[in-house]
Amino acid sequence: MIQFDQNDSNRMMEAKMSTVTDVPATTGARHGFDSLEEETHLDGLPVHGQLPPWLRGSLLRTGPAKWEVGNRTMSHWFDGLAMLHRFSFGDGGVSYANRFLESRAYRAARDRGEIAYSEFATDPCRSLFARVSAMFSPKLTDNANVNLTKLGERFISMTETPIPVQFDADTLAAAGVAYEPPGQLTTAHPHMDRATKGMLNYAAKLGPRTSYRFFLLRPDSSKPEVIATRGVREPAYMHSFGLTDRWLVLAEFPFVVSPPRLAFSGRPYIENYRWKPELGTRFHLFDRSTRESIGPFETDARFSFHHVNSYEEGDEVVVDISTFSDAGIVEDLYMERLRAGKPVAPGYLERFRISPAAGTVTSERLIEESIDLPRINYGRCNERPYRYAWGVGFGGGWIDRIVKADVVERRSTVWAEEGCFPGEPVFVAAPEAGGEDEGVLLSIVFDGRRGNSFLLVLDARSLDELARAEVPHHIPFGFHGQFARA
Ligand code: CO
Repeated sequence: MIQFDQNDSNRMMEAKMSTVTDVPATTGARHGFDSLEEETHLDGLPVHGQLPPWLRGSLLRTGPAKWEVGNRTMSHWFDGLAMLHRFSFGDGGVSYANRFLESRAYRAARDRGEIAYSEFATDPCRSLFARVSAMFSPKLTDNANVNLTKLGERFISMTETPIPVQFDADTLAAAGVAYEPPGQLTTAHPHMDRATKGMLNYAAKLGPRTSYRFFLLRPDSSKPEVIATRGVREPAYMHSFGLTDRWLVLAEFPFVVSPPRLAFSGRPYIENYRWKPELGTRFHLFDRSTRESIGPFETDARFSFHHVNSYEEGDEVVVDISTFSDAGIVEDLYMERLRAGKPVAPGYLERFRISPAAGTVTSERLIEESIDLPRINYGRCNERPYRYAWGVGFGGGWIDRIVKADVVERRSTVWAEEGCFPGEPVFVAAPEAGGEDEGVLLSIVFDGRRGNSFLLVLDARSLDELARAEVPHHIPFGFHGQFARA
């Protein structure tokens, strides 16, 4: 554990930047992008250190695990076939299980060696005739490799197509389509509606009159209710959104798509988007009770995948986001580049203050350390003023550290280990916790020196290591997961 002030952090960033041009640190990370074929169940992983006795339940994660299908290789990190991973904790021990998510996309790959559905940046091979018919009935993938959630008693794995897949958390077996979002595009980052315990999410309805939509799905329902809508000509790429007591916060970054192009270009999905910085970043606020929307409130162009948190302060709306200067990160994450050890652009934690009355937006960087895949103490702090966020940071061209951001004191704390590359740190609050950061972080770390992965358990306050549990093989770099308490 290392603590930096801003100057140390700047110096460190400079030191790291110079290594990018010499030997990319991504060299050690490269095998974290190898496909994983085996499905296993291992009880009693070797544990070093001491797990907190209160930690009981399962870390469930989804992520891409296999990019080779037949004689083809998927183009992008986001294309890989989804695998579910589960680390279960109890009685001082840890077990691990993994299983491919048995989607239609997976079955076509396994049974016929075919990429049969359109992924993020990879299309099926099609004859001209098949391509023409596909324009009118696009074969959207159900390869739900981005994130998962628990809604009522259901576990649901999600991607950005409107085909969320339910699964059994014990067997990791897929159990069909969970619900149908009211649009062709959605996000894998829903929010919890505190009032109903339902799920709030976004959808884009494409057509002659394209619109942004928000919907509510109640815990016991499979029928989403559209709760707000706003027309748009060229929708922006949308990976997540913000939520406050009063507002749904839509940040529209200028990476946009023309719906006819999406339908008729014959190009893979994401290649139809265009970076138009002249549009700037446009915030739209949707009132959760009246369903009216206001805005756009405009500022300079940015790009982002992940909102961190949002809340109201006086007449202003505070929106914290992990931002990139442009959409180049999408290009950076093509498999050929990643497997060649090419560096990726870092994201930074930025605070936007929207003043609806004045019609203005200001922004500032909150900490100097880079950060993405952000998590907060969600149950306690989402929609509210907060102090801490945890995420991964970038050094030497790839994710090589876990970062704790103190957004009040504007300081950061870092966990890093030579040759190790961590994934998203999931915060689990201690029972009856006093402090916001009282609990643990769970992160799957790829050890580039030994070629395998381990589950790392950190004290969320200090980032001191409490324990690690070794898996005999590597776990490919993934995106998101959730902790389900026993
Ligand atoms: Co995400």
